[in-house]
Amino acid sequence: MSGGVEIVRSVADLRTRVRAWRSQGLTVAMVPTMGALHRGHLSLVTTALEQADRVIASVFVNPTQFGPNEDFSRYPRQEEMDAEALTGAGCHLLFAPTVAEMYPDGFATTVTVTGVSEGLCGDVRPGHFAGVATVVTKLLLQALPDVAVFGEKDYQQLAVIRRFARDLDLPVTIVGAPTLREADGLAMSSRNAYMSEAERAIAPVVHKTLTHVAEGLRAGKTGSDLCRDAVETLLAAGLASVDYIEIRDAATLAPVERLERPARILVAARLGKTRLIDNIGVEI
Ligand code: PAF
Repeated sequence: MSGGVEIVRSVADLRTRVRAWRSQGLTVAMVPTMGALHRGHLSLVTTALEQADRVIASVFVNPTQFGPNEDFSRYPRQEEMDAEALTGAGCHLLFAPTVAEMYPDGFATTVTVTGVSEGLCGDVRPGHFAGVATVVTKLLLQALPDVAVFGEKDYQQLAVIRRFARDLDLPVTIVGAPTLREADGLAMSSRNAYMSEAERAIAPVVHKTLTHVAEGLRAGKTGSDLCRDAVETLLAAGLASVDYIEIRDAATLAPVERLERPARILVAARLGKTRLIDNIGVEI
């Protein structure tokens, strides 16, 4: 390590570092990412530093969670900048494995989660959550951290991860951290870089629409009416299509028509070539 965060690329090296920390009685947190780090990711590192003595971030653009026509090949890769940002955030170790390290020849295992993986992004991106569950299971077993931190921005993903961590008795506490937003409400995302200036000007309507649905729900309106109007608002604002906007139980992700329990409003919509996802909570 020459001043910056130490980078390891093999599972063996990762385990050696973690073992050394463990032998000193230190606790460990992990922040799995696909890189192209922004302030939202760095806030996950800050949360991790509050939870443990040492923090590992992983950067791995996981091929198995992208569909054949999705953005795997153009997903931004900028390891040097990511390492600099992680150094500034106080991260102790960057795990940046190759595809061959994560998926060696003959790899034949998939973790699938029923229930919470279904509907929402699960319907629009077949196989996506199996890819996420498989890679996150591997990362957690490779590092065996005490805590792993994930953003609420990917709310269904967080629910999937909580589910398999519990079902598989992974000895890791899963922590969800709030979404960071730009001043105009747009949720921070590595994919925001895909947008043109004109698209970027339209994008805040996604969060505004979520807020409007939340107000309606609190005022006693029904979910289906609110979501139907929300689709019209988004399309009228210039979104190309709306994959879904739905109200779900915040804990189970079961559909919700009226606000009787804490709820989550989740949206995915396309703006030009960019797929935007966001969600907000509604308390009763
Ligand atoms: O949220 C992400 O960046 C990815 O889905 C994750 C959790 C790092 C798995 O590849």
